[in-house]
Amino acid sequence: MRAALKPLLLSVSLPLSLLAVACSGSADKPAAEEAMVSPILTSEDAKDPASFAQPEVARVTHVALDLALDFAAKTVSGTAKLDILAKPDADTIVLDSNGLKISKITDESGAQLPFTIGDKVEGKGEPVTVTIGKARAITIAYSAAPDAEALQWLAPQQTAGGKQPYLLSQGQATLNRSWIPTQDSPGIRQSWEARITAPKPLTVVMSALRVGEPEDLGDNRRAFRFRMDKPVAPYLIAIAAGDLAYRELGPRTGVWTEPSMLDAAAAELSDTEKMVEAAEKLYGPYRWGRYEMIVLPPSFPYGGMENPTMTFLTPTFIAGDRSLTGLVAHELAHSWSGNLVTNANWSDSWLNEGITSYFENRIVEELYGTRRAQQEAALSYAEMEKALAEAGKDAPITALHLPPAEGVPDGGSSGIIYDKGATFMRTVESIVGRQKFDAWLRNWFDKHAFQPATSAMLLADMRANLVKGDEALEKKLMLEDWIYKPGLPSNVVQPPASAFADVDKAAEAYRASGTPDAKAWGAWTTAERLRFLSKVPAKLDAAKLAALDSSLGLSQSGNKEILFAWLELALNNRYDPAVPVAEKFLSSVGRTKFVKPLYAALMKQGSWGQPIAKRVYAKTRSGYHAVTQGAVDAVVGKPG
Ligand code: BES
Ligand code: ZN
Repeated sequence: MRAALKPLLLSVSLPLSLLAVACSGSADKPAAEEAMVSPILTSEDAKDPASFAQPEVARVTHVALDLALDFAAKTVSGTAKLDILAKPDADTIVLDSNGLKISKITDESGAQLPFTIGDKVEGKGEPVTVTIGKARAITIAYSAAPDAEALQWLAPQQTAGGKQPYLLSQGQATLNRSWIPTQDSPGIRQSWEARITAPKPLTVVMSALRVGEPEDLGDNRRAFRFRMDKPVAPYLIAIAAGDLAYRELGPRTGVWTEPSMLDAAAAELSDTEKMVEAAEKLYGPYRWGRYEMIVLPPSFPYGGMENPTMTFLTPTFIAGDRSLTGLVAHELAHSWSGNLVTNANWSDSWLNEGITSYFENRIVEELYGTRRAQQEAALSYAEMEKALAEAGKDAPITALHLPPAEGVPDGGSSGIIYDKGATFMRTVESIVGRQKFDAWLRNWFDKHAFQPATSAMLLADMRANLVKGDEALEKKLMLEDWIYKPGLPSNVVQPPASAFADVDKAAEAYRASGTPDAKAWGAWTTAERLRFLSKVPAKLDAAKLAALDSSLGLSQSGNKEILFAWLELALNNRYDPAVPVAEKFLSSVGRTKFVKPLYAALMKQGSWGQPIAKRVYAKTRSGYHAVTQGAVDAVVGKPG
């Protein structure tokens, strides 16, 4: 029985734990900092098979980076000083690397420490085993490879301004080990600081608070300093550098982007401060100080990434009408679910993404009202149904808690961990009532703040604080089924059928008449338009597609979600006039969620689509982030 697997939480007060070492042996560390050293979990279900680290022997507690950005060589190089908490008799520490070139590792006195780099394991990288002896702080001199998977070095032509190069990083899930030598596991939290130098006039931002003003180094370079004094999972360390401008949005909110993008970005993000207020009202204080965002060039491989104090965003969410800001609500919600309470390993990704998707929808409801929230929930529910249908309802990958063999979710298939995860939360909410549910969830965040968590811990917490021995309620909730079994439990709560009643009627009418109602379309919200496009017949001939496009203006849409939905439909139907539009889209956008399905649609169309996919990909691949390249390689194959 899964629930019987009680996680052993090594708390700061347990004398047997590794942390006791810190408590007794670190007179030089202030008490407040000590209290921030977060516990590790040692239960079987909390172990991270995606990392080589052995945190029960020795673990990193703080990372200090001193790095230079070299845009010509496409490298970051310098030093990483690691503070280590180790068992008294520990002689080695194991770190994660993926292609790092390590030249030297020294102790605090500057003496060299022996180290070995083990064989590369696909998808995991190489273990770096350092003989630390008595050393509890080590300095690693290294550089990242030019093709480090986390990093994307953009040529000026790939930016909005076209004049300066750009660097962006993406750490989740296991990519940061390609540019930071540390223990890259979400259960091993580390505070960190950084000094980064970059050529003028570039500005560097990171997922931490800035320290002071940039320092002019006199050789056409500047140094930027950052400090994250809270322990975070290492996948949350992020960097971007480019020709950046900043605009304040509210007392603790603001946006960074290229100067030519600033007005549009600030307008689209004008609700951000209100979102932070709404989130706090729901589930407790925002604990990271500032909430800033950076709107990146379109090659960013995701919609958004919840890097603490600095959410990374695709520019494709800018629709001009704030209709895609659910993305911002989502990344903000991760400030609680994910960044504050973090999945101990990637099998429990749903704890990050599912709870966040639920929380996102609650923020949307607060800001934009029940109707939009219900519509977005209904779209999410449909995504879940699609994922269940595609995988088959008995497939192990449709359980929320994924078997370790399923590897590390890359954000690509979101129907289960995001949408089934959110549906689970919504189901529990509707059974126990919103008031009780909200009190429980807020308490969960508070109690586990700055700590890793597992599914088993969440269930134990629900039982202790929500079920409280009520056997009838326990039976009603079907908790074990939701977390550990594939498919959909019978107590699932569906979004209200009324959410899309009008649109579904219009789709019905279109299926019968073949003529879309352009006037109705003109009055619909983005969610309604997306619903309509998901309900038109999968098979349409060229004349029908031409009519649809011309009356609804689909290929001219400035809304990238709608443009994507149209292109997918058109390519699935071998519609030639859509090819140039698709080619332009694939050449300018690198968001995996859009790019991969469009190539897949082409590849499915045999002799019509495959040559197009291969021709376009040969041209576009070098402009994509490694995450997108990996995803499309799997569909199209590597060009040439
Ligand atoms: N944390 C994810 C992105 C991610 C997931 C990166 C898994 C790597 C591995 C982020 O919060 C996210 O979910 N982004 C979505 C946003 C959407 C669901 C609103 C995206 O990028 O599309
Ligand atoms: Zn997310």
